[in-house]
Formats: sequence, C-alpha cells, structure tokens
Amino acid sequence: MVDMGDLTGRVAIVTGGAGGIGRAVCETLAYHGAIVCPADMSVEICQPVVEAVEALGGTCYPVAMDVIELENVQRAFKEVNDKFGHIDILVNIAGILSGDKVHEVTPEHWDKMIDINLRGVHYCMQTAVPYMAANGGGSVVSVSSQAGQVGGWMGSVAYSASKGGILAMTKGYARQCQQYHIRFNDVAPGLIATPLTAARGDKPDGIPVGRLGTGQDIANAIYFLASDLSSFIDGATIDLNGGQFMRS
Ligand SMILES: NC(=O)c1ccc[n+]([C@@H]2O[C@H](COP(=O)([O-])OP(=O)(O)OC[C@H]3O[C@@H](n4cnc5c(N)ncnc54)[C@H](O)[C@@H]3O)[C@@H](O)[C@H]2O)c1
Repeated sequence: MVDMGDLTGRVAIVTGGAGGIGRAVCETLAYHGAIVCPADMSVEICQPVVEAVEALGGTCYPVAMDVIELENVQRAFKEVNDKFGHIDILVNIAGILSGDKVHEVTPEHWDKMIDINLRGVHYCMQTAVPYMAANGGGSVVSVSSQAGQVGGWMGSVAYSASKGGILAMTKGYARQCQQYHIRFNDVAPGLIATPLTAARGDKPDGIPVGRLGTGQDIANAIYFLASDLSSFIDGATIDLNGGQFMRS
C-alpha cells in the first residue's frame, strides 16, 4: 500500500513560519519528510524553527519574506526554487490578529489588516502558481479563522473581513487552477494557544471540548490538506474550533 501521507522530497514554503502555529506546521511537515522553508520577516527569527526541524533530522531553509511586498515575495520564491528545483506546498500562515471594534477601524488599521492578512496571501498564491504548474501541480493551504465565518471572537471588523476574504479567494484560485493540478484549501481555527493569545490571557470559555486549540491541532489538519491524503479535496475549509462553531 502506498503511503499517501509521505512528503519525502517535497518542498514546502510556510509563511509566518517563525510564529506559534507556523513552527508546529514546519515541524509536522518535516516529520513527514518535507523540506521546509519558513518564510518570515527575517531569517534570524526563524532560527528556533531551524533548530527544531534539524533536531527531527529534517531539512529547514529559512527565507526572509514580507508578504505585503510583491517583489520580496517573488524573490523568496525564486530563492527556494533555485535552491531545491521545485516548490510543491505553500502554507499561508503570516498574519496579524486584532479584536478591532467598529470605532477603532481607522483607514490605516483597515489597510494594514487587509494588506498583511489578505493581499499578502494573494501575492503568495499568485507567485506560487507558475512554479507549481511547471512542476505538475501542488497544494496550497491558507490559515483563515473562525472570525472569517462568524465575525470574530471579540467582534472584530477588519480582521474578520480579511479572513473571510481568504475563504472566498481560495475558492477562486481553486477553480482557476484545477487545470494545473494545484489544490487550494483553508483551515479556520478558533481560539488557539499561542504567544499571541497568551498575551491576551484568553480562556477556553464557550469552547465545548474544554480547552484552547494548539498549534499541533492546526498543523495536523494542514498536513492532511498539504499531502495526497486529501487529493480529492479542493476549495474546502476545515473548521478547527473545538465544536464552538458548526456550519450547516
Ligand atoms: N492564535 C489564534 O488563536 C488564531 C486563531 C485563528 C487564526 N489565527 C491565524 O493564524 C495565523 C498565525 O497565528 P499565530 O497565533 O501563530 O500568530 P504569531 O504572531 O505567533 O505568528 C504570526 C507570524 O506571522 C509573521 N508575520 C506577520 N506579518 C508578516 C509579514 N508581513 N510578512 C511575513 N510574515 C509576517 C510574524 O512574524 C509571525 O511569525 C495568523 O494568520 C492568525 O490570524 C490564529
């Protein structure tokens, strides 16, 4: 029987790879055999991820990438492709979280949220397509949020809009890129325990399973969507929220 979950030899770019969820994703993809390239604001902040992946016996090649600068994104993809000869998996995690209230959404706040969380994902997807098409296909997984479906834990406005945009954009990319055998899917996390949520003191109130999610919970689903285990899934969203929100 073929191991459909084996990622040996596949090259994965993980934006936001130095962050809480990003690190768990890099470790998990590497555990299953992928060469992982965390792409974050600097190579230096990816160093703990490099050490963690190498401790697993994996290969980790960090690249500096600011997702809101198109030339920056294109340079990072080229660097990875020049180094390894192909790009098979893209995981879009880079993002900023905000519980913005209606009166707090200044034009500057709106632009920053949409630029990083939505335009940045578009730039990475758009840049990935020709590389993956040239290589016979690939898998793209983006991290949206429960906020993108229900308006947010704290009633965020711009953040919810940016994450809801990812859900719609993913379907658009999926429809247009089926001819290239590139699949596009999302995960929509609820409240996940990362440094970001720890700083806010978030508690599992209202989460039926009685705990916050972990980076590993998210990484497990991203691994599934990135691998051939999910080869019949395209344009879909997996909800990862401990039963807090159930779609009809
Ligand atoms: N933690 C949660 O509860 C939760 C819930 C739902 C969705 N999410 C989403 O998951 C993703 C990761 O969240 P996290 O909790 O790991 O946060 P985190 O802050 O630990 O990680 C985010 C990473 O993105 C990077 N980043 C930010 N702006 C960037 C840019 N312009 N270019 C490149 N990299 C950039 C940061 O440097 C950081 O390493 C975010 O998109 C967030 O919206 C998180």
